[in-house]
Amino acid sequence: MPLVGVDTLLEQAQQGNYAVGAFNANNMEIVQAIIQAAELERSPVIMQASQGAIRYAGLEYITGMVRIAAENSTVPVALHLDHGTDFDQVIKCIRSGFTSVMFDGSQLPLEENIATTKKILEIARPIGVSVEAELGKIGGTEDDIHVSEAAYTDPEEARYFVEQTGVRSLAVAIGTAHGQYKGEPRLDFDRLAAIQRLVNIPIVLHGSSGVPDEAVRKAISLGVRKVNIDTNIREAFVGAMREVMAAKPGEIDPRQILGPAREAAIKIIREKMRVFGSSGRA
Ligand code: G3H
Ligand code: 13P
Ligand code: ZN
Repeated sequence: MPLVGVDTLLEQAQQGNYAVGAFNANNMEIVQAIIQAAELERSPVIMQASQGAIRYAGLEYITGMVRIAAENSTVPVALHLDHGTDFDQVIKCIRSGFTSVMFDGSQLPLEENIATTKKILEIARPIGVSVEAELGKIGGTEDDIHVSEAAYTDPEEARYFVEQTGVRSLAVAIGTAHGQYKGEPRLDFDRLAAIQRLVNIPIVLHGSSGVPDEAVRKAISLGVRKVNIDTNIREAFVGAMREVMAAKPGEIDPRQILGPAREAAIKIIREKMRVFGSSGRA
């Protein structure tokens, strides 16, 4: 079926009290793994490409691969820009056929974040493209930011932000971080509950790899409707490549290395879909 928007998927998730997985697609094998996992689980799915993925694979390749995957699939698939920080890049993705974009203005002063998010919504909404915004700094373990609570999303500010922009999904900082965690992440569920009460729109959880399943389930019970996973796919994919290369150091056929990597990615993505409760919803 043709690509769908993220808002529709999240509205359905809101009604069914589950979350849709948003998996980062960096190459053909990962695109195939995401779609195959979704088919096997009968799950709606969001494929997302970061600015880095677009630089690596090329915008036309990413859009083309995901569009073909969606058209050949029997489950709903959305194509989403992950952490678009540049207005022009966001517009290029919309023109290229993305059905959803994230504008990440979390590094900007509040009023600038609001103004640019609004500008993108004015362009995207009339043509049916979904928009995700970010408030609070999610950060990355790789920068050793170790997200201090001062950078967490303030619930009252979230209410103001949503009122001012009219955005329909919001990424929040409640204790998760991108990349591999050094210790076990502790999520601020009280903050999440307060945000949800005040904004009443689908919440997006970033940096979800490495967050224990129970904590993810609890976050979903408190209004998280989109769960972003990248690092766990990288670990599974590259881990399988390493195993093949260690077992067969003379192997020179990339397909013999990338095939098992794709299988490993399918397995982890299926597991995530079950945790998110999206299995069987398509
Ligand atoms: O949010 C970050 C994602 O994991 C994307 O990472 O910028 O290395 O593609 P990347
Ligand atoms: P992880 O790599 O920590 O799973 O985070 C993914 C993400 O938030 C993409 O936006
Ligand atoms: Zn993220």
